[in-house]
Amino acid sequence: MANSVAVLFQTSEGQTRKVAETVASHLRSQGLSVEVMEVGRETRDLVVGAYQGVVVGASVHAGSYPRKIRKWLSAHHESLNGVASAFFSVSMSEADEEERETLKGLLEGLLEETRWTPEIVASFAGALPFSKYGFIKKRLMNRIMSEKGLELEEGRDYEYTDWDSVREFAERYAALIEERSAGKSSPLGSVPLG
Ligand SMILES: Cc1cc2nc3c(=O)[nH]c(=O)nc-3n(C[C@H](O)[C@H](O)[C@H](O)COP(=O)(O)O)c2cc1C
Repeated sequence: MANSVAVLFQTSEGQTRKVAETVASHLRSQGLSVEVMEVGRETRDLVVGAYQGVVVGASVHAGSYPRKIRKWLSAHHESLNGVASAFFSVSMSEADEEERETLKGLLEGLLEETRWTPEIVASFAGALPFSKYGFIKKRLMNRIMSEKGLELEEGRDYEYTDWDSVREFAERYAALIEERSAGKSSPLGSVPLG
């Protein structure tokens, strides 16, 4: 596993899983071996230090990142800080210029609280998959969106994720991994030959 990367995620309605899988697919196309896991049952036996790098994604709900991911990051911050790590956030605030400052505070608060210092941090706009919401969530999200002045068509799902930014994030991360491997694999690299 020394040359592999783990892409972990927390999700409520599936958008962060979709972003995690897209990141993984870009990393694979750069020649990396990648495992994708949802934080929880699938990460119970995970040894962070067994991977060359770890990417974690989480989504914002009701003004914060869920307790489950905050707890997991706090518990693993030391081993995460010992590998090439990156974080991506998924939220609707990212799609709204007026809310980006609040989101920035939330993101910084998460890293401060968990004492994790990822080398790359990105924030992506999420989605509003109304077809996956129950009655209450549907009403709540419709109300929040109309308070923001966004009139949404009933019966439609909305996606705001900028997939080019997701690809750029994955490419930056692949470059970081490559840089680290080059540094480790060639101790004689600085010795002049001949
Ligand atoms: C009940 C609910 C509450 C939400 N609260 C927030 C919020 O406080 N701030 C925000 O930026 N986005 C909020 N969102 C938007 C989600 O972050 C967005 O839908 C994202 O795509 C969810 O990702 P996930 O499906 O991976 O959980 C909320 C969404 C729902 C359904």
